[in-house]
Amino acid sequence: MKGLKNKRILITGGARGIGAATAARFLEEGARVFVLDCDKAALRSIEKEMSGLGGTVAADVSDVEAVNHAFKELDCFIQGLDVLVNNAGISIRHPFLEVAPDEWLKIINVNLNGMFYVAQQAARRMLEGEEGVILNMGSTNGLIGYPYYAAYNASKSGVIELTRSMALELAPKVRVNAVCPGYILTPMQEAEYTPQMLRECESKVPLARLGKPEEVAALFAFLASDEARFITGQAFVIDGGEIAGGLASQT
Ligand SMILES: NC(=O)c1ccc[n+]([C@@H]2O[C@H](COP(=O)([O-])OP(=O)(O)OC[C@H]3O[C@@H](n4cnc5c(N)ncnc54)[C@H](O)[C@@H]3O)[C@@H](O)[C@H]2O)c1
Repeated sequence: MKGLKNKRILITGGARGIGAATAARFLEEGARVFVLDCDKAALRSIEKEMSGLGGTVAADVSDVEAVNHAFKELDCFIQGLDVLVNNAGISIRHPFLEVAPDEWLKIINVNLNGMFYVAQQAARRMLEGEEGVILNMGSTNGLIGYPYYAAYNASKSGVIELTRSMALELAPKVRVNAVCPGYILTPMQEAEYTPQMLRECESKVPLARLGKPEEVAALFAFLASDEARFITGQAFVIDGGEIAGGLASQT
């Protein structure tokens, strides 16, 4: 991809799953990659596995003070930031009537508030520089209804609208887009779905399989690159065709 070499890139939730695949992809592109994650053990593993990583920062994105502190730490490594992949997120699968208030708050705090805290810090640095790109992790769950994910769906819908608002206010210096994957096989999915449920998910995808983290990483790389210079304020679906017909999976 054009224009990613030597770019300073921060990936939240980058210690595993889609975030880790994205870190690997941006390293391949010659970028300077920094990973923020709340899982210290996973951060230690990724430091060993990924040679060339610019650095890692341990922080919980839902804790505004921790996020501010993490950015100050980052400022010691790099002056400014070119690309943010705002990816950290969690999911809880529960029937709507059984969602406890603290579960609701936890999802909203990580997936929506955390994304806002990180995006605001990143945007300030990008506006002080020449330009920047912010890519927020949405989901097809933010675009259509899925049962048993009320809090998650609401958080991801919020991310998509936050993305549009940011794109309008931060243009023309900073481009902001959302990426909305369908089923991608990661530790998050493996924790929530039985093998039988995963097969059912696959059967509802026109391309007849779950997506791979590397495929989402490729979309992040394109949107961050100079190839996407005229793209802002959009939500990009990557789901193997799952929602093309407007029919949500009921699994
Ligand atoms: N896997 C999918 O099918 C799928 C589909 C659509 C959207 N998404 C979104 O993609 C993102 C990554 O998902 P994944 O499947 O790779 O999940 P994952 O659980 O495999 O990885 C998530 C990473 O985020 C980190 N994280 C979680 N909470 C955090 C917090 N409060 N602060 C900092 N780091 C935190 C975790 O430690 C982990 O390293 C999430 O936002 C998720 O909602 C995933």
